[in-house]
Order: sequence, then structure tokens, then C-alpha cells
Amino acid sequence: MPLRKRRTRRRHQLQVTHQPIYLSRLSADFAGLRIVQLSDIHHGLYTRLEEVEKAVALANRLEPDLVVLTGDFVSNSRHYIAPVARALGALQPPLGAFAVLGNHDYRVGAERVAAALERHAIRVLRNQHVRLCRNGSSLILAGVDDFNYGEDNLRLALRAAEPDSPWVLLSHNPAILPQAAASGVDLVLAGHTHGGQVVLPRLRSFRRPRKLRFRHGWGQVGSTQIFISRGIGTVVLPLRVQCPAEIPLLRLHASLGLRSGQGNGPGG
Ligand SMILES: [Fe+2]
Repeated sequence: MPLRKRRTRRRHQLQVTHQPIYLSRLSADFAGLRIVQLSDIHHGLYTRLEEVEKAVALANRLEPDLVVLTGDFVSNSRHYIAPVARALGALQPPLGAFAVLGNHDYRVGAERVAAALERHAIRVLRNQHVRLCRNGSSLILAGVDDFNYGEDNLRLALRAAEPDSPWVLLSHNPAILPQAAASGVDLVLAGHTHGGQVVLPRLRSFRRPRKLRFRHGWGQVGSTQIFISRGIGTVVLPLRVQCPAEIPLLRLHASLGLRSGQGNGPGG
């Protein structure tokens, strides 16, 4: 196989990260809930439609109850919005597919990206929440617009959220973590960092945003947990080094004093 083709294939090889999450407020009705997270797809020249379709097929094979999409569906061109939304429409988990927008989605047009996703039955949470119900128990799933767009996003998203249910927050940018911890969010699911994308020993990875305490994987601040996906696509360079593309499969459990800790992927 030609070298170039081999590199492209390696760049898009998806690792499934199995991550247990223990939540103290989780009711037994939601124990074992399977959440698949797709992040930073960046459909465009570096991540072709074929790769998006493969990721969707793998996500469906994992048989999730719920799919969350944490932003950056495209990189720089509006041309790719409709095809990526159409491909993601093949996700049909029983509790639904929910999305938030990333900084790149804003650059190409937040309204366009949101409308395209909604056309394919993906609910876009723009500073709002939904209540997921099972046998009378509920789980609050909230979503915020990208951290750099809007000042009061989290407060709006959690307005009138039931205090006795667990709160799961979708945020493209993990920099929301301190604010989420101060607001009593149980779990934040984020992307944006690409896990560093190019990780070289002794050198800072070029995708490591400053001031971020966690780069990827599981972390905790106070009683708020976070999982940051390394994502699927790439930006700047069509390259991933020691940082494979990832689809996290998170399983929720009632805490019983257990800590979530690391899954099978490296943490940051
Ligand atoms: Fe991204």
C-alpha cells in the first residue's frame, strides 16, 4: 500500500475508549446507561465523508442508549455542513442524539450547522437542557454554545433544572470546568483539545490550550467529573502522532463510593 494511503488510514483509525462513570445522584433506572461521544469530526479535506460514515457505523455497533456530539462538525467551509449532518442522521439511539456547537461551527455559521443537524433528528442544545426519563427517574442533559461565544451560557442552560437529578453538561470547550464545578454539574463531556493531536516526548503538543488542567480523558474538580474526547478529525495538519482518534463509550453507574478513574485510554 502506498505510504500516503497508509498514513491516512492510520490517522483515522478509531480507538474505542471504555470509560465507567460513577455518579452519586444517578438513579438505579439509569444504571448501565451507555453514552457514545463523537467529537471534533472536522469534516473537510482532512476528514472525508467516508471516514465520518465509518465513525457513525462504529458508534452504532457500540449500541448506545444515547449519543452526544460535542462540536466542530466542520473545519472552515460551509460546503461540508450538509453532508456531515446527513451522515450523522444514521445515528438513532433509543434516547436520542444531542449536540452542541464548537468554535469552528461558529466560524462557518452556527445557525446553518444547527439547522442541518436538526433536519436529521439531532437535537442541538444551545444554552438549554432536556430531561431524559426512565421509569419516573430523570437525568438532566444540558448543552452550552462554545465557551468563547456568549457570557451567561451555563446559567441559561441550567435554568430550572431539577436539583435532585444528575446533571450532565455538553460543552465543546473543557475550559468551562471550573464554572461547571461551581454550579454543581455532575459530569462534563467535552472535546476541543484533540488530545494534543501531535504528542511528541518533551515537547508541548501543538493543540494544548493554555490554562487547561486536563488535556484528554477523565478528570475531576471537586465533585464534578469531566471526560474530554481526543476527537475524530484533525486541524492545521492532517496528522496525529501518539494521539489516536477516539470514540468514547461511557457507562454510567451509581457511585456507591467508587471513583471513575481512568478508562482504557491515556489521561491528560
Ligand atoms: Fe476541534
